[in-house]
Amino acid sequence: MPNYLQVLAEFFFSDNGSTAVEVALKMAYQYWANHNQKRQTFLAFEGSYHGDTIGAMSVGGRSLFSDVYRSLLFDVEYLPFPDTYFGDTLIEEKEERILEQIQEKLNHSPEQYAAIIIEPLVQGAGGMRMCRPEFIRSLSQIAIDFNVLLIFDEVMVGFGRTGDWFACRKANVTPDIICLSKGLTGGTLPLSVTVCSEKIYNAFYSDDPLKALYHGHSYTANPLGCAVAIASMELLIENETAFRQMDQQHWKYLQPLLEHPKLERLRVMGTIAAMDIVADQPGYLNPISLHIRQEAIAHNLLLRPLGNVLYLLPPYCITEDELTFAYQGITAILATV
Ligand SMILES: Cc1ncc(COP(=O)(O)O)c(C=O)c1O
Repeated sequence: MPNYLQVLAEFFFSDNGSTAVEVALKMAYQYWANHNQKRQTFLAFEGSYHGDTIGAMSVGGRSLFSDVYRSLLFDVEYLPFPDTYFGDTLIEEKEERILEQIQEKLNHSPEQYAAIIIEPLVQGAGGMRMCRPEFIRSLSQIAIDFNVLLIFDEVMVGFGRTGDWFACRKANVTPDIICLSKGLTGGTLPLSVTVCSEKIYNAFYSDDPLKALYHGHSYTANPLGCAVAIASMELLIENETAFRQMDQQHWKYLQPLLEHPKLERLRVMGTIAAMDIVADQPGYLNPISLHIRQEAIAHNLLLRPLGNVLYLLPPYCITEDELTFAYQGITAILATV
């Protein structure tokens, strides 16, 4: 099988996305410990979602999902996420400010930071917020320049979602660690991997038991899951054009919606299309979500907006007719908002 992750060749199996993230955090933390360095702080992005376990919640943006556990979570330092959309003229300035902020932090106390963790290109549960590959490239360069590890949580965007095999490939960068799940088995059976570079792997390769990465679950690398992952990968390789072309299909349908009075911030990244419904109080709890879901069922569609964020994340086997049907349904539903 081709190595779609370029030089990343070491795989640590587990069984869900949150655990893939936990493992990545432990790897990054212990990488420094094994090098006798006490680097304990993670840099993470506002609005991010990395899963529901304590570590994954800690590096996620503080939100409704994690609020009640706040005192259990470890401290991380947050950076704004430079989300962008069609017609955004200020994005370069926004990115520049954030990159400067990161450099300032790393300049100030480089010995403090273990890793930067990001959902590259698309923040999923946080509202399908998208950033440019240019930002990811600059971020990667900063991580290299300041010798801080870079973790890509590709649990949602991996395996074609961004229009390329992986977000890191689309941005043409190689992070130190990548977390993968969902698309690994085509969303059918629980399986995940935390993939890392030789540099990380070698930090654990030792006869000293204290250098080992102690992590394992009963269903780690579940054989059925692995068989399904291989089958799913074969299907994906055969049907690569399906995910590579979907952005053009989305744009065809989004173009007429660009001036829609009830929509703003239209955006596409590969197979993912998203738009905000204009709302006084945007956010996950916006009641528009329930209205859209109910109307969607009446239109024979299953839509699950994130508050006022309406999005389409179709399976790669969707037909042109089905996508037309979905967008016609959305247009009809918007008339009821
Ligand atoms: C980016 C990202 N990371 C981690 C997770 C957690 O994965 P799981 O639900 O398999 O634990 C998710 C799940 O939605 C996700 O989107």
